[in-house]
Amino acid sequence: MKPGLFSTGQCTGALTTDDFLATYWQKKPLLIRQAFPNFEPDLDADDIAGLACDELAEARLVTGSYPDHDWKLRHGPFAESDFSQLPADNWTLLVQDVEKHYPPLQDLVKRFSFLPSWRIDDLMVSVAGPGGSVGPHVDQYDVFLLQATGTRHWQIAESFDRELLTDCELNVLRTFDPEQEWELQPGDMLYLPPGIAHHGVALNPGMTWSLGMRAPSQADILLALGEWLAGSRNEGERYSDSGIQPVERSGEINAEAIRMFRELCASVNQSEKMFPEFLGAFLSAYRLAHQPAPPADASSSADLGKALKKGAVLRHNPWTRLLWLELSGTAMIFAAGSSTVCSVNTAINICDPSRLEKAADEFTEDELSLCRQLLNQGHLYLD
Ligand code: SIN
Ligand code: CO
Repeated sequence: MKPGLFSTGQCTGALTTDDFLATYWQKKPLLIRQAFPNFEPDLDADDIAGLACDELAEARLVTGSYPDHDWKLRHGPFAESDFSQLPADNWTLLVQDVEKHYPPLQDLVKRFSFLPSWRIDDLMVSVAGPGGSVGPHVDQYDVFLLQATGTRHWQIAESFDRELLTDCELNVLRTFDPEQEWELQPGDMLYLPPGIAHHGVALNPGMTWSLGMRAPSQADILLALGEWLAGSRNEGERYSDSGIQPVERSGEINAEAIRMFRELCASVNQSEKMFPEFLGAFLSAYRLAHQPAPPADASSSADLGKALKKGAVLRHNPWTRLLWLELSGTAMIFAAGSSTVCSVNTAINICDPSRLEKAADEFTEDELSLCRQLLNQGHLYLD
């Protein structure tokens, strides 16, 4: 029996992870009633408002409604007085990276571990008053919208007029004709692939938790690749053209030159070692707002083995992305942009947060030594 979607055990009757990936992922929207039965959020609206006042948090406050298009957007950090002055209706407070600010929420993110961890961007929490909405819009990445409290009316459309409002900081569609609609109650979830127009309006005060995926664009990747090459000692190959014929039209970039430039660019992406190394560094640092700081107390790492035997648990720093890839039979492990070589088993054990938390007291001396290094760099912490 295959495991059910989001469930850790086996389940009958429910959609399996395999079915979800084959039929819906990146293809079509899916409403999952009671995806998280009896869902009890670990944080309430006041916790999110408190976080929105922290200067390390990325927070936005949106007021307005459709079709009036009286949208206003403000960026945090906010003060408590900002919330006491809110109108009764039509407001939404959005805070990004909530699972990093509040690490126990990593347990919720683990329910999505059927996807590669580097594909997950963040958990954004929106708190809305009645009528609260960010307007009809389209996202360029997949999103799982979990209703945490209250009721929200969602409308979606696969075919729609793409014209956006002008003079508006929010990417809001000027008009929106929904094709499907539902009311989501706590525990219900709506999955949307990229490119589906959607509009969620709070029917009463409530919270929506959205797990957004990362989908770097070619522009993101090529910009980062250029920076990475420029910053490394090896700036890559240079254009060369031995054997060219004399030209008659000296200002022309001719077809042969275009072909050779295309090959020069392709050879960066096709390089056996350099491109995977770049990708590991890029994906492990992508959109991380904070670099993990080394711990003030380094003594914990010296006594790591003893601490684990006594029941301490090693966890990933939520602001680090720990990823690995296999290169010629060994593993390269990446932590927030930096890399180390280790065995494949060590990489599997350290980069999977569940294995690290459960099995670190049985780790080999090599594994413990890498854990010490990552602990001293602030990428792991002892709980
Ligand atoms: C929201 O939670 O208010 C908006 C989420 C989204 O539409 O992506
Ligand atoms: Co959206």
